[in-house]
Amino acid sequence: MKRISLTQYLVEEQRQHNTIPAELRLLIEVVARACKTISHSVGKGALGEVLGTAETENIQGEVQKKLDIISNEILLEANEWGGHLAAMASEEMESIHPIPNRYPKGEYMLLFDPLDGSSNIDVNVSIGTIFSVLKAPEGMGQPTEADFMQAGTKQVAAGYAVYGPQTMLVLTTGNGVNCFTLDREMGSWVLTQRDIQIPAKTKEFAINMSNQRHWHAPVQRYIGELLAGDTGPRGTNFNMRWIASMVADVHRILNRGGIFMYPADTRDTSMPGKLRLMYEANPMAFIVEQAGGAATDGKQRIMDIQPHKLHQRVPVFLGSLDEVAVVTGYHNEG
Ligand code: AHG
Ligand code: MN
Ligand code: MN
Repeated sequence: MKRISLTQYLVEEQRQHNTIPAELRLLIEVVARACKTISHSVGKGALGEVLGTAETENIQGEVQKKLDIISNEILLEANEWGGHLAAMASEEMESIHPIPNRYPKGEYMLLFDPLDGSSNIDVNVSIGTIFSVLKAPEGMGQPTEADFMQAGTKQVAAGYAVYGPQTMLVLTTGNGVNCFTLDREMGSWVLTQRDIQIPAKTKEFAINMSNQRHWHAPVQRYIGELLAGDTGPRGTNFNMRWIASMVADVHRILNRGGIFMYPADTRDTSMPGKLRLMYEANPMAFIVEQAGGAATDGKQRIMDIQPHKLHQRVPVFLGSLDEVAVVTGYHNEG
């Protein structure tokens, strides 16, 4: 089998489709390199003294794990000096991180969830990194949070790395979704899946069932019907999976179909859902749509939402086209 490296893929993609100019290629390669470093830390576990919690909370009020902080630092450091970025933003930082004045500035802005699935770190279950790339607005001076307030449709690239039995990088630049596997001996990313397509039909769903009593009516109805199986209105049995790492759940769905849900619920109406729009929902929505699936907040397409703050949360329904259509239809009825 002829091996195609990430670099070769990016160069050829630019030649054929003109979607990856040199600066964006550098950005993607730097992010991929940072993910390689994170993967190495993750893989060391207790031997690298990277497990456990730090004694800090992030802006979301979540206790940070050591690896949340380490991964954030790795991504910041890797991306500061290349001249490809104007600013960065992260789940782990309250405000945006403009590129320091000692470095040249570029035309892109990078957002990331440095370590997704933090609750799985200490139990050796798959975790990941999610990233989203936007363009800096024309004529932008010193970057501000307002410059990041762009709908998901404006993303020029998005991807995630999953640190599982294998480390993989899944990437879209708006021309389909491709997957690269990390060759640990060579230290290189090798193209292993081209143009991934999510099956439109599925019999598998992913949701945290422990929140069932708090759900709103459309989600109660939808999940109730799935659970009723072949004697219920859907006339078929559905299976359930919940890894509690969005990256790992989405990766399964990309490969064999399924629907992933993190709905809003009745507990705290000021907090619509758990997942963050800018660096979790938008990049995953971009990937899922590019793979032929759909992503909504229950009512509308996630990528059409106009953001109003960096750490904004959003309900998420994404994956196989037909199931996302059913649950979105229930929300829009009545
Ligand atoms: P993070 O670790 O970046 O805070 O994200 C965790 C998210 C997401 O990855 C996952 O799907 C969800 O939280 C799990 O939530 P529950 O703990 O409610 O299962
Ligand atoms: Mn996350
Ligand atoms: Mn995280």
